[in-house]
Amino acid sequence: MNESSQKKSSEVDPMRARYEELAELAGSLAHEIKNPLSVIHMNIDLLSEDLAEIDSRLSRRLVNRIDIVRGQCERMESLLRDFLRYTRLRDIDLVSGSLNDQIDMVLRAYQAQAEQEGVDIEKYLDADLPSILLHSDSLQAALMNLVKNAIEAMSAGGQLVVRTYSTRTSVALDLIDTGRGVDDVTVLHMFEPFYSTKDGGTGLGLPTARRIIESHGGRISVQSEVGRGTKFVLEFPIPKRLHG
Ligand SMILES: Nc1ncnc2c1ncn2[C@@H]1O[C@H](COP(=O)(O)OP(=O)(O)OP(=O)(O)O)[C@@H](O)[C@H]1O
Ligand SMILES: [Mg+2]
Repeated sequence: MNESSQKKSSEVDPMRARYEELAELAGSLAHEIKNPLSVIHMNIDLLSEDLAEIDSRLSRRLVNRIDIVRGQCERMESLLRDFLRYTRLRDIDLVSGSLNDQIDMVLRAYQAQAEQEGVDIEKYLDADLPSILLHSDSLQAALMNLVKNAIEAMSAGGQLVVRTYSTRTSVALDLIDTGRGVDDVTVLHMFEPFYSTKDGGTGLGLPTARRIIESHGGRISVQSEVGRGTKFVLEFPIPKRLHG
């Protein structure tokens, strides 16, 4: 029995096959909802432009209502985008690249928001970091989810320490925040799709990040303490050289 728990990836697992089938179906459904939704969104924009030309109390009230509908449309679009990213992560092409560059680009994108929230970002990037095999867009999306979560956890300001280093077999990235932290129950559930403790959160950020990291042959782990902060560690394999 124990042997079967160590399945080779080539073995067909009926649960896995069923899961893949459902994920495929859910992905198609999400995709089919996206098109009519974008037509609704576009027409709402046009309607609101037309109404804005009429100067009356009624038209202003209608424009306000339309804004609410538009907001909900945008929320659904963002949910579908995250969901599709989550389901479509198979067979990505990996090329040699620098983890330092990837995290650097993400931190630059979040610098303004961090400053605005009173979050100080400390970077310690190992200049001699070995290259890893990566897919830039996907990996940046994963890192963005993690950095965004960290900033959101520090609504009263704080510090985000970002460190890269290598071990004998892996290239690692630590993301350590001084945010609100989570309890042990949340740690157990936070990587599950749709688990969120935030108003308006989709709960797809962490599961997407994990899938992306795993599709790079890597892994992600978390330690957290309520009121003190959270540490995520990402590890990626160092590719074996083909020659020598
Ligand atoms: N750095 C962090 N500090 C504290 N809690 C965190 C952190 N990162 C994740 N969490 C917890 O894990 C939950 C799931 O995170 P995830 O990114 O999957 O979804 P979300 O952030 O709630 O929603 P979305 O990513 O769609 O905005 C969060 O709601 C939060 O409770
Ligand atoms: Mg998130």
